Amino acid sequence: MSKSVTRPNNLEAFWMPFTANRQFKQTPRMMVAAKDMHYTTDDGRQIMDGTAGLWCCNAGHGRPKIVEAVQKQVAELDYAPAFQLGHPKVFELASALTEISPQSMNHVFFTNSGSESVETALKMAIAYHRVKGDGSRTRLIGRERGYHGVNFGGISVGGIVSNRKMFGTLLGGVDHMRHTHDIERNAFTRGCPAYGAEFADDLERIIALHDASTIAAVIVEPMAGSTGVLMPPEGYLQRLRDICDQHGILLIFDEVITGFGRMGGAFSSDVFGVVPDMMTTAKGLTSGVIPMGAVFVRDDIHDAFMTGPEHLIEFFHGYTYSGNPVACAAALGALETYHEEGLLTRASELGPYWEDALHSLKGLPHVIDIRNFGLIGAIELEPIAGEPTKRAFTAFLDAFDKGILIRTTGDIIALSPPLIISKAQIDELFGVLADVLKSLD
Ligand SMILES: Cc1ncc(COP(=O)(O)O)c(C=O)c1O
Repeated sequence: MSKSVTRPNNLEAFWMPFTANRQFKQTPRMMVAAKDMHYTTDDGRQIMDGTAGLWCCNAGHGRPKIVEAVQKQVAELDYAPAFQLGHPKVFELASALTEISPQSMNHVFFTNSGSESVETALKMAIAYHRVKGDGSRTRLIGRERGYHGVNFGGISVGGIVSNRKMFGTLLGGVDHMRHTHDIERNAFTRGCPAYGAEFADDLERIIALHDASTIAAVIVEPMAGSTGVLMPPEGYLQRLRDICDQHGILLIFDEVITGFGRMGGAFSSDVFGVVPDMMTTAKGLTSGVIPMGAVFVRDDIHDAFMTGPEHLIEFFHGYTYSGNPVACAAALGALETYHEEGLLTRASELGPYWEDALHSLKGLPHVIDIRNFGLIGAIELEPIAGEPTKRAFTAFLDAFDKGILIRTTGDIIALSPPLIISKAQIDELFGVLADVLKSLD
């Protein structure tokens, strides 16, 4: 399908996010349409989406239920104030979400992005301890190589140096556990690595340093995506859960990437059998169609706030667009699509085929590790000496020329296709990627 769309004649005004702006503007990669598994570029080429956009278009592109829901909603009720007023869809959506959330999590707070979900959860955790009369619990613990979005709370608990080093002293009262990447012991593992559960004991070290009575919450991604796809070592998440329970610390899972089917269940807790106290989500919530995030909260955390005179606001937090009607319609359309097509569990059914295809790249030039879980894959490349990230970025550009969209972080290639991908498309994706890797310097 070729579209006649003229390329804008001025690319200067738009300062692009997380982009090599000058490189892009010299050789723009412009998407003009998308349907199911493919993007169309402005020069009429079809690009297979190997990344579900930015880990978000879990149902694929241009899906009819979502398109219709958004079109209908925007014509019917475009906006309703989010504070002290409501509209039916936001309640309907919250209830529908609690149908797929862990049993103890029946309350949902809406935001507009993963970053905002993280800020919301961190604030809730501190405020929760305070409303319970435990106001000294204010510290937040993250992890090295963690990604929790780009706002100040998120980069403070996050552990990616380039996202932190330009921005001053960040939030006070934050500490970090060590990361779980251990390529020496775990290279080319299929699924969760066997070694590394003991990395969770680093939390004990931090507790010993600060005392548990000062710590509000620990936040981790169950699978660390943006830092290069690091699966949790077997037993690691359970050990974190146990330590948090022992010390009265809340455990927050950042499920912005892992939620809504990516790992083979609705959320990571279904797949790993470890239930956090709060979950932050976004992305797949609307299948990427309208910006929206949601924080899932354990019932007793929510209930702790519901005290005092009934005319008073219980939690001084929220966004103009929390639960925006059009976003709610998109999310309801996405949920309907996920349910009808079995997409929340499809990654576990297709996982073994995906895993075999991915690991067939072992032995290609510069490949030092391959990792996978559900419909996620990562290929770690040996960096070019003195020029980190260049080899993977070259692969990204070549892959785009050859018709597949991959994502890179550092020298790691990350793959996370829409959950509708077919076996034939998996073969095609890895066939092209093999050619790309073979031609890398
Ligand atoms: C685990 C995690 N948390 C938070 C975010 C931030 O989400 P957003 O870009 O919607 O703010 C991301 C984005 O990739 C993420 O992967």
